[in-house]
Amino acid sequence: MADAQIATQTPHVTRREDYREPDWLVPDIALDFDLDPAATRVRTTLSVTRNGSHAHPLRLDGEGLTALSVKVDGVAVSDWSMDGEDLIVPLSGGAHSVETEVEIAPERNTQLMGLYASGGILCTQCEAQGFRRITFFPDRPDVLSKYKVRMTADKARYPVLLANGDPIAQGESEGGKHWAEWHDPFPKPCYLFALVAGDLVANRGSFTTMSGRDVQLGIWVRAPDLPKTDHALHALKLSMAWDEQVYGREYDLDVFNIVAVDDFNFGAMENKGLNVFNSRYILADPDTATDYDYDAIAAVVAHEYFHNWSGNRVTCRDWFQLSLKEGFTVFRDQSFSADQGSAAVNRIEDVRGLRAAQFPEDAGPLAHPIRPDEYIEISNFYTATIYNKGAEVIRMMATILGPEKFRAATDLYFQRFDGTAATCEDFVQSMEQGGGVDLSQFRLWYSQAGTPRVSATLTRDGGRARVKLRQTVPPTPGQPDKAPMVLPLKLKLFGEFTGRAMCDEQLVLLKDPEAEIVFENLTEQPVLSINRGFSAPVIVETNRTPKDLAFLSAHDDDPFARYEAMQQLMLDTLVESVANGSVDHGPVIDAVRNTLGDTALDSAFVAEAVLLPSDSFIGDQMAVVEPEAIFHAREALRADLGRELAAEWRAAYEGARANRFEYSPAAKGARRIRTVALGYIAASGAADAADLAFAQFEGADNMTDRQGALTTLANGSSPLREAAIEGFYRRYSANALVLDKWFQTQALATRDDTAQIVETLARHPDFTLANPNRARALIGAFSVNQRAFHDLSGRGYRFVADQIIALDKLNPQTAARLIPPLGRWKRFDAGRAAKMRAELERIVATPGLSKDTFEQASKSLD
Ligand code: TRP
Ligand code: ZN
Repeated sequence: MADAQIATQTPHVTRREDYREPDWLVPDIALDFDLDPAATRVRTTLSVTRNGSHAHPLRLDGEGLTALSVKVDGVAVSDWSMDGEDLIVPLSGGAHSVETEVEIAPERNTQLMGLYASGGILCTQCEAQGFRRITFFPDRPDVLSKYKVRMTADKARYPVLLANGDPIAQGESEGGKHWAEWHDPFPKPCYLFALVAGDLVANRGSFTTMSGRDVQLGIWVRAPDLPKTDHALHALKLSMAWDEQVYGREYDLDVFNIVAVDDFNFGAMENKGLNVFNSRYILADPDTATDYDYDAIAAVVAHEYFHNWSGNRVTCRDWFQLSLKEGFTVFRDQSFSADQGSAAVNRIEDVRGLRAAQFPEDAGPLAHPIRPDEYIEISNFYTATIYNKGAEVIRMMATILGPEKFRAATDLYFQRFDGTAATCEDFVQSMEQGGGVDLSQFRLWYSQAGTPRVSATLTRDGGRARVKLRQTVPPTPGQPDKAPMVLPLKLKLFGEFTGRAMCDEQLVLLKDPEAEIVFENLTEQPVLSINRGFSAPVIVETNRTPKDLAFLSAHDDDPFARYEAMQQLMLDTLVESVANGSVDHGPVIDAVRNTLGDTALDSAFVAEAVLLPSDSFIGDQMAVVEPEAIFHAREALRADLGRELAAEWRAAYEGARANRFEYSPAAKGARRIRTVALGYIAASGAADAADLAFAQFEGADNMTDRQGALTTLANGSSPLREAAIEGFYRRYSANALVLDKWFQTQALATRDDTAQIVETLARHPDFTLANPNRARALIGAFSVNQRAFHDLSGRGYRFVADQIIALDKLNPQTAARLIPPLGRWKRFDAGRAAKMRAELERIVATPGLSKDTFEQASKSLD
């Protein structure tokens, strides 16, 4: 029965190799919206032209649409038909005007794709295939059109009407309505279309471009949120200046608007001239946003702004090319963030994110290359692989070319493909020609999935040292055999006795399965520093001893490599502890003491360096993940670090003690080390730890300190825990974004009863699956809490599966993104694996399951 259901449900697979040019082009489109939350009329006029010689009718995508009328060249026709959801219009000549009319109900749109209502605001989300839920259209990114948009709406409810491009005209109409017209002079694919109607106010600014044009900027929010928009506006101006300086890219319209909405499936969207944001990536003030939020806001504002060139001016030919815009744009926003603050800390955070999200994806059932070969639902491919590994691939090309040639190559790319829908291959060719390099073998990064492994062994005899390198690329679904790849590895040797560099940094391009590098005339024992700056997104195994790693953590001159050496030392220690039940914590304690005492280091870096690897990253190193053993090994090391370095943590805590809030790198670093130190003081079991945390919680003048203290208290079992959780709730119960933190902090807690607490929170009156931020804050966070989610009873799996099934009915995209933690069953013991599979099977067998969730759950069973 279940099998029969699965078979009849199996949806259509789209393949990259099946790409064909569109039959019909749409150089111009005029959209006329009569906006109303219950019934919005959409009248669309397409000017269509036959592309090449063929006899195919015009085929327009639709989803949930009924054509109320179809006209060709101004005359109503009746020879149109429906093929499934597609509207088919037979056309004889080479160019026609085609008009359609539909009615949609934004207030009933819970998927948040197409035109929907968020709070009192009407807004759109069209990437990847939401435009077909608004009107009939060839919904594919290689159909570029000039848009004219007219909106009519009730003036009292929707006083502000925004769309892409420039405002052209506005006026009053009868019945308390008003209208506005916007024209976008730049041809664009329909996934970049946007409109917004609402009762909004703007934080306005302006920017003068490098050629002296004035651009009017607006960050649009509901009136009470206006005071929280300065940081985003500032970040926007910095981004505009940065893209001119670093890439020579100037903004091209007279206005640039950003709108913040509370209900949004993703972070934000780069619609031409009208970015729409998840409000969590716009709104900030010290009382409600953490330093992490401030940084993320700047990064996402930059990301969406940078898409104006990498994504909009040059767009994607088809959705298999998604990484063309996303990988490149993430690389660009990472470079921007690195230039604003500490480059080293930024790189550490990028790599931590890659290892937390992308490495597991690459090692699991949903592994795919950065340019996939097939998909059922494209929304499932907005992944850490496409975005973050994609960014690493661009970074490697930038490393291989060097800064000048990389800039020449991006100039060539933008100049050659401006106004077109391009491919990843176009980008690589631009890199080759602009940089004068051959990237034939490098292209494997686009087609092969899986994280390459490099083993590096250093041996010394007398004055000579050899570094032997070996690479392997693991099999992934559909790709059993892999070819060796090009791995750019930055390496250097340091003298163990003097601590001095024994050579300049070298960039080795490992292309073969094996290679050997020889160093001569060495006068002392060398220690190998490799993959410096994380020059290649690979897993490196070395024959370095704990002593070598401790040495590098103190002496390497690349801050990332110092961090990395410390992490490796901690990881080796914890893995051994899990395997043997005990281990000598001494080397880690000494290395952490050393780092804490190094006055030349800035506190933000120190705070990153002394943090232990996460439970799940420790699990990733093991053949079979043992959640309980990992948790206890890690807690034991934390406790020892807390006790042995008690004086150092106290000093770090006091040294960084409350000053008035300021958003500067130094103040951020002080807050970071303070909360990290507080965590270690609590881990030590110090009698006053809860009091200290509660005092920080109560006295904080900013959310970073307050949430840091709340986290420490929520993990513990002091009577002050309840007071903090309740106090936080009372103080912020009207602020959705802060309530998300309240749910998330409890879902991530390290307590024994977290699963039970989360089940209770799912029945809390403030919990709702209808808001993606809220769903992710509780369900998403819980499912990455390794120990709690993998509770031996299987209750965590059952709970998450229940939530996914319920959410799938409302919002398939968001539901499908919650599947991957259940899909990691192969990494666990047979008992857990069977329970995880059973939940996946239950999900797949659910009647009426979306193709989003079907694709992720069914692939996860393989
Ligand atoms: N292009 C957007 C970005 O990376 C991604 C995005 C926004 C998206 N909204 C979405 C992806 C909805 C899938 C579904 O900035
Ligand atoms: Zn993007």
